Amino acid sequence: PKRVRTRHFHNAKVQGIPITGLTSYDMLTAQIFDQAGIDFLLVGDSAGNNVFGYETTLPVTVDELIPLTRAVARAVTRALVVADMPFGSYESGPDQALSTAVRFMKEAQAHAVKLEGGVRSHKQIKRIVSAGIPVMGHIGFTPQSEHGLGGHMIQGRGEAAEQLLADALAVQEAGAFAVVLEMVPATVAAEVTKALSIPTIGVGAGPSVDGQLLVWTDFAGMTEGRVPRFVRQYADLRGVLTDAVQQFRADVNSGSYPAPEHSYE
Ligand code: KIV
Ligand code: NA
Repeated sequence: PKRVRTRHFHNAKVQGIPITGLTSYDMLTAQIFDQAGIDFLLVGDSAGNNVFGYETTLPVTVDELIPLTRAVARAVTRALVVADMPFGSYESGPDQALSTAVRFMKEAQAHAVKLEGGVRSHKQIKRIVSAGIPVMGHIGFTPQSEHGLGGHMIQGRGEAAEQLLADALAVQEAGAFAVVLEMVPATVAAEVTKALSIPTIGVGAGPSVDGQLLVWTDFAGMTEGRVPRFVRQYADLRGVLTDAVQQFRADVNSGSYPAPEHSYE
């Protein structure tokens, strides 16, 4: 299949074709999502919660995400692979941001990078883009600043809608090829989407955006406990795996596994 490029994101918006994205942190899920036709895979710093067992994304390092990104990039034949720049790897300034982006491109063969922040990250995005590296922006609720934002909260309500639009325009002006809108009111996301020429990718931003992104462990029912309101759970993989494990254990205990057909003469 023909690889998805950043120009396809632009074309999709112009033609009104929705863009689909999922997170992926390993080769097997990357293969499955790629073969199913998902347009882009985000190696998110949500790996902090879903791979490394941290409570937030804050402790995640570039060194931790590079091997995961490399595995995903090697697995895909079509999907565009976006590497998430973790907390502390770009805030110091454009030089630091470019160094980090180069590492993801060079050491992990990512196709693009993502970083959080609108106006505050304008210089960083601009520098990375000027080096020929595609950037996906990320505004609204930005998990790396959850302590500054006062927890997991909807962003862009009421008067904050103007700041959200300013952030979106800053990301676009800096040269990003797309922007993630996380946990913003659907009406505000619709306005931002209309105001921008680059596609908006919603995660908890309602239907009037140019694409949808979900954390794969949420959408497939792997996560323990509650998932956010905006997630539709398409499978119960945790239940399926739990049943399989319990059956395996019971079969070993009862002596019904291995059976003769599983044994070598
Ligand atoms: O790390 C991640 O999974 C993300 C998406 C939820 C936007 O940044
Ligand atoms: Na992230």
